Amino acid sequence: MQYPVKIKIRHLYFYYRTRTILENIKIDIYANTITSITGPSGQGKSSFLTILNRLCHSMDGARVDGQVNIDFGHGFEDIFQKDYALPELRKRVGMVFQTPNPLPMSIYKNVAFPLKLAGNKNQDTIREKVEKALEHAFLWEEVKNRLSDDARLLSGGQQQRLCLARSLVLAPQVLLLDEPTSSLDETSVQVIEELLVRLKTRCTIIMVSHYMDQVKRIADQQFILCDRQLKPV
Ligand SMILES: Nc1ncnc2c1ncn2[C@@H]1O[C@H](COP(=O)(O)OP(=O)(O)OP(=O)(O)O)[C@@H](O)[C@H]1O
Ligand SMILES: [Mg+2]
Repeated sequence: MQYPVKIKIRHLYFYYRTRTILENIKIDIYANTITSITGPSGQGKSSFLTILNRLCHSMDGARVDGQVNIDFGHGFEDIFQKDYALPELRKRVGMVFQTPNPLPMSIYKNVAFPLKLAGNKNQDTIREKVEKALEHAFLWEEVKNRLSDDARLLSGGQQQRLCLARSLVLAPQVLLLDEPTSSLDETSVQVIEELLVRLKTRCTIIMVSHYMDQVKRIADQQFILCDRQLKPV
């Protein structure tokens, strides 16, 4: 592949207590591409995503071993280093969960929330970034006149794009998506797929999907997770 390596994974093991979920994983993920992970239910696809932003480190009984090195623009950094700044990592590696999880607040505040958490105080800058993120998530036109509505009033597909906007507002370099189009209708699926293809010019996307036809349509690199191994398709 012609793109530079963004994420280098070596000797990666993942356990829930005594159960081995991933065993000796060695893969490279390329910058500005879409990498898909498919595979049977319960094999560890969602768990794999939580390793890449270290969410797994705060999960009870989860244990990880090995190396995950990510190049954020200044050479490879070992994200498992004990003193690695987690807020910085979570800004650079965004995640959208399988079930949309809007916060119980307005559409605007949902997208502004990560900026406020990151210490942004300038309202003009926040407004500008919120608008841009909503545009990038293909949602701006649908919500620009109802930004103060409760986000939970949005449809499922809109909520999924809202959560995407909330991740994009911090301009992540890596985007982790857990089944981004599950339970959406055909039109919404198409909207999200087009969006992801556009987004890869801006970030490196790792997407869990159950749909092989979707993976064939949009993924540059495909893996299947089965028997504790990630195998190229
Ligand atoms: N917090 C946890 N503690 C213990 N075991 C867990 C935990 N989370 C997940 N598991 C188990 O780890 C295995 C992998 O789970 P994971 O959710 O990563 O699978 P998946 O491939 O994403 O499945 P699906 O396709 O159904 O979403 C499953 O057997 C699951 O029951
Ligand atoms: Mg899952």
